[in-house]
Amino acid sequence: MKLMIINGPNLNLLGKREKAIYGKKSFDDFFVELQFKYRDIELTHFQSNVEGEIINKIQEVGYSFDGIILNAAAYTHTSLAIGDAVKAISTPVVEVHISNTFSREDFRHVSYIAPNAKGVIAGFGLQSYELAIQSFM
Ligand code: DQA
Repeated sequence: MKLMIINGPNLNLLGKREKAIYGKKSFDDFFVELQFKYRDIELTHFQSNVEGEIINKIQEVGYSFDGIILNAAAYTHTSLAIGDAVKAISTPVVEVHISNTFSREDFRHVSYIAPNAKGVIAGFGLQSYELAIQSFM
């Protein structure tokens, strides 16, 4: 099984950024743990701060991979174009968030991805990614 984790803007700063919300671990360290724990799954990770690059990656893997785990970060709440890309592809997408976006500011309650996602997992810290992996198993 081939799963792609796509992380959006500022998630390259995990471990340094607003630690009280997003935790102390870098995504790279967490990803090594994930690959070890789920070694029967072909797990790939892509991060970009650029909206178009995220769309290019969704299109690139969206007809061949078994699943996409997408944390589009702030683009979740603004990007019609990422929402359209998720709608366009055949690979199922699980939207994830580290924080519980619904317990935060109102603008974080909106998602342009959720209407076309297989499901949404939010609020479990980095474990949100793990729950998303398990949803494909
Ligand atoms: C986030 C939540 C978003 O609202 C925020 O802009 C992020 C991270 C999360 O994983 O909790 O950058 O997607």
